[in-house]
Amino acid sequence: MMSKHNPNPLSSVWHPFTQMKTMPDPLHVRSGKGVMLELEDGRKLMDCISSWWVTLHGHAQPEIAGAIHQQALRLEQVIYAGLTHEPAELLARRLIDLLPEGLTRVFYSDDGSTSVEVALKMAFQYWKNQNYTGRTRFLSFEGAYHGDTLGAMSVAHRSVFTDSFKELMFDVDFLPYPETFIDDPDIDEKECVALTALDGLLEKRGKTYAALIVEPLVQGAGGMRMCRPEFLVSLRDRLKHFDILMIYDEVMVGFGRTGDFFACSKAATVPDILCLAKGLTGGFLPLAATICSEKIFQAFYDDDPHKTFYHGHSYTANPLGCAAGLASLDLLKANQNRFMRMDAWHQKGLALLKNCSTLNRLRLCGTISAMDVHVKSDKGYLSAIGPILREKFLERGFLLRPLGNVLYILPPYCITEGELISIYECIQDVIMKIDV
Ligand SMILES: Cc1ncc(COP(=O)(O)O)c(C=O)c1O
Repeated sequence: MMSKHNPNPLSSVWHPFTQMKTMPDPLHVRSGKGVMLELEDGRKLMDCISSWWVTLHGHAQPEIAGAIHQQALRLEQVIYAGLTHEPAELLARRLIDLLPEGLTRVFYSDDGSTSVEVALKMAFQYWKNQNYTGRTRFLSFEGAYHGDTLGAMSVAHRSVFTDSFKELMFDVDFLPYPETFIDDPDIDEKECVALTALDGLLEKRGKTYAALIVEPLVQGAGGMRMCRPEFLVSLRDRLKHFDILMIYDEVMVGFGRTGDFFACSKAATVPDILCLAKGLTGGFLPLAATICSEKIFQAFYDDDPHKTFYHGHSYTANPLGCAAGLASLDLLKANQNRFMRMDAWHQKGLALLKNCSTLNRLRLCGTISAMDVHVKSDKGYLSAIGPILREKFLERGFLLRPLGNVLYILPPYCITEGELISIYECIQDVIMKIDV
């Protein structure tokens, strides 16, 4: 059969989240160094989004590259069943030590979606193992994104991402996410609406919920929607009352992104289960960890084989990933001022955009800032303004990837104040010249 039009007949690659028919030729990247990427044609781009939020310290970070190299010469991979190795043991210990007290066991997997999948299965079986057969439902939030495997999709906001698979997904109750921004006059009201909706559901069927899953402080793919730490405290108190487990998906916000080591530390709340991925290896290798409390672990610790957690992956606890994780944690601790000072730099940048009438709902959480581009129609992920803006930024040497009409900056921690401000100046320049 004749193939349809293909813009690049030499490539056999099918790209993620991409309509291949309309996809422009992709940019060919030759190398990366710090905050910069170099293209095959010699152009340089500043990576303002940490390459899908994974590049923590900077590209081609030498300490992490060296740790992977050394580990590869010693042990590159080994079956993680009945065997263990030093990098996996050490990384688990270091994560537990860095996290708030109460989280004690680390279950490794491969990426953000699998860390969430593991968390959901763990929460579900936790109740089964104790013969609570009625606790089978999950609570989540409007605007949530937790990955692309079926369980992770089920607890995500229904959207163009999930439409084709709706018959395969399980039923979930969604709560409003009280998203806020700088000088938001209505935040108390929004939190009240969310908590009232929760109270209503808890009253109706509180004892049917296994767990609630939330992206604490910042919903990522849903549009960099930010909530206040106080909201998470109120949430935790209500869930506790009904014995519902709390899952924090810190896949995006972990490892300094919110200005603290973890969102749970910043929000002074300890979940029962916590998901980590993306920044875990500093952005070098796919590795994830689902970390749970002792209470969860003990519900599986039994002579009965049916109480075993039957989940695993070929590359579980890959030694290279764990070695990268250890090197990344060293850097994170040694350079913690880098992610802690970025909030103040963002504030200076946001001040440049404050009076720009096309931008509204300016918001900030640690190393992440975001804003909405005011468009007359077609808001959301598929907004036509997204790709147009992306092109304009690329022309000026900045890699930004708007989520529809939402612009955000989420850079590697090696960025300097001057470089960060230059991103804001670029946004200002593009926005002033564009007709929305
Ligand atoms: C909060 C959150 N959870 C889960 C995921 C899925 O992670 P991955 O793409 O590594 O599967 C993402 C990815 O963007 C995310 O932002």
